[in-house]
Amino acid sequence: MKIAVVGTGYVGLVTGVSLAEIGHQVTCIDIDHEKVKKMKAGISPIYEPGLEEMMQRNIEAGRLTFTSNYSRGVKSAEVVYIAVGTPQNEDGSANLTYLEEAVKSVATQITQSIFLVIKSTVPVGTNNYMKQYVKKHLKEDVKVEVVSNPEFLREGSAVRDTFEGDRIVIGTDSKKAAELMEEVNRPFNIPIYKTDMRSAEMIKYASNAFLATKISFINEISNICEKTGANVEDVAKGMGMDQRIGNQFLQAGIGYGGSCFPKDTKALVQLAGNVEHNFELLKSVIKVNNYQQKLLVEKAMKRLGSLKGKKIAVLGLSFKPNTDDVRESASIHVVNELISQDASVVAYDPIANENAKELLPPSTIFAESISDAIINADCALILTDWKEIIKFPLQHYQEEMSYPLIFDGRNCYALESAKVAELEYHSIGRPIINETRTSSM
Ligand code: UDX
Repeated sequence: MKIAVVGTGYVGLVTGVSLAEIGHQVTCIDIDHEKVKKMKAGISPIYEPGLEEMMQRNIEAGRLTFTSNYSRGVKSAEVVYIAVGTPQNEDGSANLTYLEEAVKSVATQITQSIFLVIKSTVPVGTNNYMKQYVKKHLKEDVKVEVVSNPEFLREGSAVRDTFEGDRIVIGTDSKKAAELMEEVNRPFNIPIYKTDMRSAEMIKYASNAFLATKISFINEISNICEKTGANVEDVAKGMGMDQRIGNQFLQAGIGYGGSCFPKDTKALVQLAGNVEHNFELLKSVIKVNNYQQKLLVEKAMKRLGSLKGKKIAVLGLSFKPNTDDVRESASIHVVNELISQDASVVAYDPIANENAKELLPPSTIFAESISDAIINADCALILTDWKEIIKFPLQHYQEEMSYPLIFDGRNCYALESAKVAELEYHSIGRPIINETRTSSM
């Protein structure tokens, strides 16, 4: 089938490349010329395991092309996917400007009937509005059937999620469009769930809000564990064995970040407000997350008294491992807070240093390795559970730091190992190790 994909951000590019991989003829459209030039040469603008190889394979096979020219891109396409961003407005609502622009550009360029598939995360009712919007901008007498097809891709495993996802959601009021979408997606061999457009839009928000709720819930439990002497890891394991609860998304830490959960939870609160529903539960989830993101700094301040003039190593800057994405990462709040307390921050991330430079205060010093970051540090804060950090030998903290004081926001180490390595080790929702050791500070 001939398919065009508008927008080559995270979702668009992974979708386009994957559709080519299952045999479709795909053209990806992006208004950024430089980016298109790179992608044509087989270079992926994002870091995503497996994506670049798949991209190159499909370019070579002649199934995947890139263009910044809309009219060339949508020419003779039967299906056009829209995967542009819907960033957050000041009030938390979703900004639909890019979506409107993209849909308008498609509508004004097509000379054939198409199925218009909206992948972008949009408030309930948007796809219905898009149906009218596209009609208004058509230049030719052609038919456009709109389909809502939300994505559930995780950064760092987006390719795997595309091929091994739990479900594909298709929201449309057109039987023909539903059948076509089944045909497009059949080679993925993933259960397809068909519903109306509004429900499809809501499935996306509700899923992300529910996952965020699970995280804030276990984080609240972890805070109570700390005060009662229970161990949140054991608690989560015991809870997760109940299949009604499930064992995923129960990892306590310093809260969720990234481009989806913070944005989508706020957008759903806003959406509920628009229909005069006060989504109290989700508001609390967001509040808990805001608190949790600052928790490590609070712990460090409580332990050290003042942070003024202290050298603090911050390990891990991306919002989770295996991505260079720092958007809405706890690291931004942590580093800003540390610097406002007059601490000096030496930060290290295996791959996100460059992106972090744009988002962190200019006085942040960036190190080339974990060892470089912790040398002579007064304490180390672990913010991301990168494999490199988990595997870092604990005795190095002992050797490089004047006093090995660790605040681990991701529970990277077993308590027993911290005990053996004689670290003073504070983690999330677990007993503190070697707290009684007298600090030289
Ligand atoms: C998420 C959704 O999982 C995905 O379905 C949706 O399409 C986009 O948003 P992503 O943002 O890539 O994906 O990351 P995810 O792996 O879900 O993690 C989000 C955040 O939650 C990270 O900061 C992570 O560290 C945190 N998290 C996750 C926890 O703190 N505990 C957990 O148990 C799981």
